[in-house]
Amino acid sequence: MAKRLSIGRTVFEGEIRVELITGYSKLSKNEKIKWLVDQCPDLNENFHQDLLGTEFSSREKQERFDQFSENTIGNFHIPFGVAPNFLIDGQSFAVPMVIEESSVVAAAAKSAKFWSLRGGFKTAIPSVTKRGHIYFEWDKEFSLFESFFEKQKERILNSTLDLNRNMEKRGGGILGIKLETLKSAKEPIYRIELSVNTCDAMGANYINSLLERINETIEEILPAEINSFYQPIMAILSNSTPECLVESKVSCKLSELGSVDGLTSHDFSHKFVKAVEVAKLDPSRAVTHNKGIMNGVDAVVLATGNDFRAIEASCHSYAARDGQYQSLSNAKVEGDYFEFSVRLPLALGTVGGLTKLHPLAEASLKMLGHPDARTLMSITASVGLAQNFGAIRSLITTGIQRGHMKMHLNILNQLGANKSQEELAIRYFEDKVVSFSAVQAFLQQLN
Ligand code: MEV
Repeated sequence: MAKRLSIGRTVFEGEIRVELITGYSKLSKNEKIKWLVDQCPDLNENFHQDLLGTEFSSREKQERFDQFSENTIGNFHIPFGVAPNFLIDGQSFAVPMVIEESSVVAAAAKSAKFWSLRGGFKTAIPSVTKRGHIYFEWDKEFSLFESFFEKQKERILNSTLDLNRNMEKRGGGILGIKLETLKSAKEPIYRIELSVNTCDAMGANYINSLLERINETIEEILPAEINSFYQPIMAILSNSTPECLVESKVSCKLSELGSVDGLTSHDFSHKFVKAVEVAKLDPSRAVTHNKGIMNGVDAVVLATGNDFRAIEASCHSYAARDGQYQSLSNAKVEGDYFEFSVRLPLALGTVGGLTKLHPLAEASLKMLGHPDARTLMSITASVGLAQNFGAIRSLITTGIQRGHMKMHLNILNQLGANKSQEELAIRYFEDKVVSFSAVQAFLQQLN
């Protein structure tokens, strides 16, 4: 006897057989939703209505949105906030942040204000090089391919001229190409590494197009007698961008720090440096520490229509570049100076991709004064640093659970508190540790 479990799964006497739906992508949006509702008894009857409520009133905007992805049935909201008072390289910014976690925007704004009064964030961009690779096997002595490659390098690069024209006009383009052998593969695997400057674009499509063209050219011009030895595996940009780097720094005299949340400037700064050292030494702490940095980074990356998965992957691989995963930020006290900095590989774009297509991403870039990619890198790294400062500040002073008004509100909402209960609870928990059960107990004794 068959028993329906959930979408596409039917159990036949303990054995699971997979039931597939074909042609789902061809259904209209309404049909897709109807099919889902039929399959999922748990979806309440308001589901369709709720989805409609997420849509743009402009049909044109909604259709554009639907096309960003596939099988789209609605839009998924995440709060769009602003952290004002960021002073970065002498310029003031109100930074757009898209994030669902309470306290992140508040912490960024608090740190931004703190550091604006102490000189602000200073940034530097040592390099903006991105890379891509063609991976391949070669069935004969590799020297045969090496000499072909050396002789034909110019011709190979020239085959990309049409793809490069616009990028070169903007001051970017191919910076270099080299051959490399991957270590420790059983059968040797080789790669061609292409280095590029993609100017203000994130450049994924550009890099991938260049690589595929180069691969085609190689296949085309390899002499017939050695052509079959070339076995391409794949051509793809690298999201590891250790040469597309930005550094953001804050510093001040200890006396300028003043007392921070009950700690003297001396005690605060020394404890702060220790907290960062913990994240250098212990990967368990480093992951959480860096997650705090990424709270800020991702929020700006999302708000500006950039690819947060690429940024996450790149930053975490950079954190492990020395063989052990560690803190992306550094802190030191030297003499009577406190300095706190972060170095991040941020391959961001301010043109192309979603930057013009997503109305709020476009608005975010307007809010930031139409930054070029470098400026956006500086802003994003500074927000990451501000976030990290805010988190460490709380951790080494009050603790992370105290005084989070928004956390109160989220719990209060979940518990269905009314306005006056909310006000009483917020006042009561101002100087107490918040937890779900503590808030629940408080509300119960009010009734
Ligand atoms: C929470 O989203 C982020 C923190 O855990 C970061 C940290 O511990 O440094 C507060």
